[in-house]
Amino acid sequence: MRKTEVIRRRYDRIASLYDVLESRMEKSVSKWREELINEVCGTVLEVGVGTGKNLPYYADNVGVTAIDFSTRMLARAHRKIRSGQNIRLTVMDVQHLEFADNKFDTIVCSFVFCSVADPVAGLREIRRVCKPRGRLLMLEHVRSEKAILGPLMDIINPVPLTLYGANINRRTVDNLHLAGFNNIQVIDLWLDIVKRIIAFNE
Ligand SMILES: C[S@@+](CC[C@H](N)C(=O)[O-])C[C@H]1O[C@@H](n2cnc3c(N)ncnc32)[C@H](O)[C@@H]1O
Repeated sequence: MRKTEVIRRRYDRIASLYDVLESRMEKSVSKWREELINEVCGTVLEVGVGTGKNLPYYADNVGVTAIDFSTRMLARAHRKIRSGQNIRLTVMDVQHLEFADNKFDTIVCSFVFCSVADPVAGLREIRRVCKPRGRLLMLEHVRSEKAILGPLMDIINPVPLTLYGANINRRTVDNLHLAGFNNIQVIDLWLDIVKRIIAFNE
């Protein structure tokens, strides 16, 4: 719990700078975001919506509930909703989702499970609220499995963790398995670090 609160405060602290800090990377990332959001169907939950970088890509006829535990990140996300879009923002911790079981057809998250204090607990909650045969669509950066790069990421991990609340050495595909997802498709987008992941709730 204390760890979660520390990370939440870090995101509150950087919320006003987040889009500026990320702007250099956003050119390539925005294409991946658009491709990911084009995949959604049915009722959608986005977790860790942050400043709402995915929100412009949702069609007006898609019903989206989007959560984040940082009220300051959510305040930024509000500004990115177009009139006519059906998007509801709510403060919530992904480790304790306040939704009934089997509620959503598609769950979206981008660059969130680097930060969640207990990633397996968060992914279990996602699985719980995802309908049977629903899908979790993710963009994530993870620890490289390359001989030098991986250990190097372990060594420098405390820096982004302290500044941002984000780990650069998470093994998110392994965490998905631990959370009970068995059918997982993974595509490497940049080296073996940035991945597009689709996990099927079977
Ligand atoms: C690196 S940002 C990514 C934001 C956004 N998804 C994007 O693609 O730009 C991580 C986000 O996850 C949120 N987050 C981290 N842990 C969370 C948790 N336990 N519950 C809900 N949101 C969380 C943070 O507040 C932050 O907005």
